[in-house]
Amino acid sequence: MIKYSFVINSITDITGDTRCISFLKPEGFSYASGQYLTLLLMINGKEVRRPYSISTVDTLDSEVMITVKRIENGEATRYLHEQIKVGDRLEGLAANGRFILSNPIPTQLLFIAAGSGISPIYALIRDVLYFSRSSVVLIYSNRSIDDTIFYASLTQLQSTFSQRFTIHWFFSNNKNLLQARLSRLRLEEIVEPYIHQSEFACYTCGPYLYMEMVTITMVTLGFSPNSIFKETFTLPEDEDDEDGSLINDENIPEFKDATVVLSINKNEYQFQVAAHQTVLQAALLQKIPLNYSCKNGMCSSCVVNLSQGEVYMHYNEVLTDKEVASGRILTCTAHPLNPVLHINVDEG
Ligand code: FES
Repeated sequence: MIKYSFVINSITDITGDTRCISFLKPEGFSYASGQYLTLLLMINGKEVRRPYSISTVDTLDSEVMITVKRIENGEATRYLHEQIKVGDRLEGLAANGRFILSNPIPTQLLFIAAGSGISPIYALIRDVLYFSRSSVVLIYSNRSIDDTIFYASLTQLQSTFSQRFTIHWFFSNNKNLLQARLSRLRLEEIVEPYIHQSEFACYTCGPYLYMEMVTITMVTLGFSPNSIFKETFTLPEDEDDEDGSLINDENIPEFKDATVVLSINKNEYQFQVAAHQTVLQAALLQKIPLNYSCKNGMCSSCVVNLSQGEVYMHYNEVLTDKEVASGRILTCTAHPLNPVLHINVDEG
């Protein structure tokens, strides 16, 4: 697992509750637009991992910037809002994430963001505008202009790329209800011209229900689910008891105590997973170096291959049905269903 040292170069409070933290780019660190950086924060003597979407573009910007929204009682966000200063060094992992542009980039792109969901989308938009000839539509929902992350920069981009970049702003404090919240009808109206466009992709990031509304509306209109990409980053801030709170499936099978045989490159480990644990929880308790970031089935850092046995994932926002059928699993949400599991890790 490669670790990098990120030196804080600037901290800018951009809305009442959100700040941008820019780091000097460490030697050898690279990323695709839309990916996230996992910071390893030492808080009260304990390592806390948190993934933060990167808002810069590797090939345009010399710094690596993340945006951090303050969450009441969130230990990581409180730390990043109250304890750090320019010049401090934070540890982080290699960039990761699948919320990236396809190659070639489609000629028409639609981005739909709410609040801090703009963080990865801002990077994707700048990448498309600066490095392709594609057209971009952004739908962006916020409480007010003052609460809008990157409002000034996006307005500037719109005037620089006025032929190819359109923004539909939604502010919930707007007295005109049609411009206050993104409704299904309003979304249909905006996306209608692109229904039969073959080269099209939609990227959405925001609260879960917001993205569900976007996905269901678009699929119902005839857009292919394969052209819609979602990024979920509503992280629970209390990592220690997150697993139970996420189980909401009424048909949960019976979990089993299991022995896991794990291969990472040429090393083999064997460890026990109790029925109430996830594979990742058990591995970390035994200091086995499995990769992870969100611990919540949302980021894909912990994907491994299951070659023997079966697991139940209590949450999965990232793997497709096809990937699951081919044996890919998320260790952070996987519970054993058989007494023996064989797992191997691709270490690039
Ligand atoms: S650690 Fe993020 S999906 Fe498992």
